[in-house]
Amino acid sequence: MVDYKQQLLDRLNSRTATVGIIGMGYVGLPLAVEFARAGYHVIGLDVLQDKVDKLNAGVSYIPDIPTETLAPLVETGHLRGTTSYDDLREVDAVSICVPTPLTPQREPDMSYVVNTVQQIRARLRPGQLVVLESTTYPGTTDELVRQILEQSGLRCGRDFFLAFSPEREDPGNGKFNTATIPKIVGGVDEAAGDLAESLYGKVVVRTVRVGNAREAEAAKLVENIFRAVNIALVNELKIVFDRMGIDIWNVLDAASTKPFGFMRFNPGPGWGGHCIPLDPFYLSWKAREYGVTPKFIELAGEVNVQMPEYVIEKLTLALNDRRKPTRGSRILVLGIAYKKDIDDPRESPAFEIIEALLELGAEVSYHDPHVPKAPRMRSWPDLPPMTSALLTPEVLESQDAVVIVTDHSAVDYDAVARHASLIVDTRGVYRNSRPNVVKA
Ligand SMILES: NC(=O)c1ccc[n+]([C@@H]2O[C@H](COP(=O)([O-])OP(=O)(O)OC[C@H]3O[C@@H](n4cnc5c(N)ncnc54)[C@H](O)[C@@H]3O)[C@@H](O)[C@H]2O)c1
Repeated sequence: MVDYKQQLLDRLNSRTATVGIIGMGYVGLPLAVEFARAGYHVIGLDVLQDKVDKLNAGVSYIPDIPTETLAPLVETGHLRGTTSYDDLREVDAVSICVPTPLTPQREPDMSYVVNTVQQIRARLRPGQLVVLESTTYPGTTDELVRQILEQSGLRCGRDFFLAFSPEREDPGNGKFNTATIPKIVGGVDEAAGDLAESLYGKVVVRTVRVGNAREAEAAKLVENIFRAVNIALVNELKIVFDRMGIDIWNVLDAASTKPFGFMRFNPGPGWGGHCIPLDPFYLSWKAREYGVTPKFIELAGEVNVQMPEYVIEKLTLALNDRRKPTRGSRILVLGIAYKKDIDDPRESPAFEIIEALLELGAEVSYHDPHVPKAPRMRSWPDLPPMTSALLTPEVLESQDAVVIVTDHSAVDYDAVARHASLIVDTRGVYRNSRPNVVKA
């Protein structure tokens, strides 16, 4: 009988294995680059021809991956892109990095994972390792994915191996990257865990082996729920302290001097990105199956989704003080990416704010040095097409208000303060009080 596990371990250890990565986005491309740098042959699959063309031309489309890093890997044949699932027949291990959004009813949208796994199933061959990386509810790997793959007639643990290993990518983080972030690994069985540990152990600083795939899925959700809840807490405290005439930023500076037992979170205009506003609800959804409703998750959602409304209220009051109605006012939204110094606008509260302002009759524009053109957003399909305005003194002076939604480092905030008549600052950019700045 063939020892598939040993065969694969040998190929992984000798770096003769071919690795497939499905979904060449913010998570998949950096991972593919690390495997290629480690000497593996990597096939990066995406359904978008445009991304695959850029990849094969050695041109990066993810800011954290410089083209100078990508190009040599493509030139030497260590990394190539494809849109054809048939190319996955040759891979020894495959990681799935496709989106896991929510449906309009805020339930897990597993369609990307299901479609991908069905494609793998149609080409699955004995001895392959399949690893799910997309953030998801506990049980996805050993219930949903396993069941689809076993429809091939091959048996998990005997013919093929299955694991979960969550991605902890933090776009824009200069300190950490895919290779330097410890990676959690959980197999649906011991053999799969060993193989996944061996696979990722070659490209990341440390693998963290957990008992099984469910623990790995749960660990990822805990990390994101922790952030979601703490962001909500500090956002709520911002509103409370504002009413009391206390500056939350000064309070946080002071509290942060405690050398133990405190971790700083900053308030903002809401929450954004592909993870924090979405992933926690994967757990709430699954928990209902077990008859429990996690209250903190729902409460964090309630608080965070109300924040754009709070910003609008602050803005309209400030305009009112200047005898200006919102209708007809020219408002420039500064920063539409969901966080500082990145180009990703997914789920950004900026869109909620822009939509609300348009409904109120304001003339809205935006400036974002990282997002020259606002893409069409799934959750805000009716927004008009917009491109980033220039941030000149004339543009700033022509605005009735500037709302800082994302505090990109590339913006000259002194110039903004000199030329804008009113600034609504949701990020604590201006720490000292100024007559034209309202903190929100
Ligand atoms: N972006 C992050 O910072 C981050 C961090 C940790 C975890 N995650 C998780 O990783 C997963 C991927 O996120 P992302 O930010 O990389 O998303 P992304 O949208 O940047 O990339 C996903 C890619 O998958 C492709 N794709 C969609 N369906 C496909 C299919 N059937 N076959 C092949 N490719 C397909 C898309 O075209 C896209 O290029 C999600 O579950 C997310 O929650 C993301």
